[in-house]
Amino acid sequence: MKPAKLTCAVALAWTLAACASFAASPRTDEPIQPIQAPKGLNAAKVELGEMLYFDPRLSASGIISCNTCHNLAMGGTDNLQTSIGHKWTAGPINAPTVLNSSFALAQFWDGRAADLKAQAAGPIQAGPEMSMPHDLAVDVINSIPGYAPKFKAAFGTEKADIDKITEAIAEFEKTLVTPNSRFDKWLQGDDKALSADELAGWKLFKDSGCVACHNGPAAGGTSFQKMGVVAEYKAALPAEGRAAVTGKDADRFNFKVPTLRNVELTYPYFHDGAARTLDQAVDIMGRLQLGREFSAAERGQIVAFLKTLTGDQPKITLPTLPPSSDKTPAPNPFRE
Ligand code: HEC
Ligand code: HEC
Repeated sequence: MKPAKLTCAVALAWTLAACASFAASPRTDEPIQPIQAPKGLNAAKVELGEMLYFDPRLSASGIISCNTCHNLAMGGTDNLQTSIGHKWTAGPINAPTVLNSSFALAQFWDGRAADLKAQAAGPIQAGPEMSMPHDLAVDVINSIPGYAPKFKAAFGTEKADIDKITEAIAEFEKTLVTPNSRFDKWLQGDDKALSADELAGWKLFKDSGCVACHNGPAAGGTSFQKMGVVAEYKAALPAEGRAAVTGKDADRFNFKVPTLRNVELTYPYFHDGAARTLDQAVDIMGRLQLGREFSAAERGQIVAFLKTLTGDQPKITLPTLPPSSDKTPAPNPFRE
């Protein structure tokens, strides 16, 4: 605070404008940085990807789309402890948000998909999710005449295949970022963007060590970390985390650090969805990751800070999907 005022006084002698711009200078050395809008995306792929993201015909039942479990009207999640997929099957784990997932070092809680394109191939086929063999998904999309010009515009060919389908969905997902949160405004130099309590919460978050793991533009997604560093976490689900990918015992119970962007919207929390409130999640994080017991007042301040990470939600115009044709394979909601 003091050096800023000092320089302002000096700047006053120089020009008032310079002083104003100094006061609003961005805080570039913080461990969390503002969300930037994506650049260089292919508009035709984005448009096609958005259609596919909302198209339930990519599922065996004909009623489950990506948006069923990653509802863009609700923070890109389903707000369930674990997702429900084909034939009302309980999923094995909590659905993370798709918002800002392009910032993560890998996809899924255990990071088994390298990127969004590789990720998108999973749920279409997965039994407890959309349960749709890739061949059949491709046949369905190719049987819908209205998709042909969209694939032509995006890929130069009218014919869909699973590679193009997942690439288009991934391109759309890259648009799902949430800039302009109040915390970002503060980072960009707007001192009034945070209340005293929120600022105190940020200080607690930073000084007590949460930023060792929750850092980068997404306030997470930059590393895999053990759940239960100081004390053991008793999970409600059998998931083993990163060890399932690497086969290494040392990776047991290591999970991708989730983004805290929009965390106000993405309840319930943790890979097992066991924490229903942010207050609970902060309490558990303090005790298990840092060996620190926060008072109710401190938790309140941290939660107040976390809620400042809610950014502008993507403005989605529900796409009008082209109708099926006489050749389109019929949906099979009860297929085993
Ligand atoms: C039945 C519910 C369901 C459907 C349908 C579904 N997902 Fe998911 N999604 C999940 C769950 C559960 C996970 C976490 C799985 C894991 O980590 O093992 C997940 C993980 C993800 C992730 C990784 C996010 C992260 O932070 O690691 C992305 C991205 C994603 N899904 C996108 C999609 C797309 C694209 C589709 C459509 C093709 C889709 N999902 C369909 C439930 C669903
Ligand atoms: C050692 C690394 C580490 C530290 C330190 C840490 N976290 Fe976490 N955090 C994680 C991991 C890993 C998860 C996911 C755990 C899981 O789902 O089993 C997580 C999950 C969360 C979640 C739930 C997010 C969601 O969408 O499910 C919140 C909220 C959270 N952390 C807040 C905090 C706060 C507040 C602090 C400081 C008091 C903190 N974390 C410190 C690694 C860490």
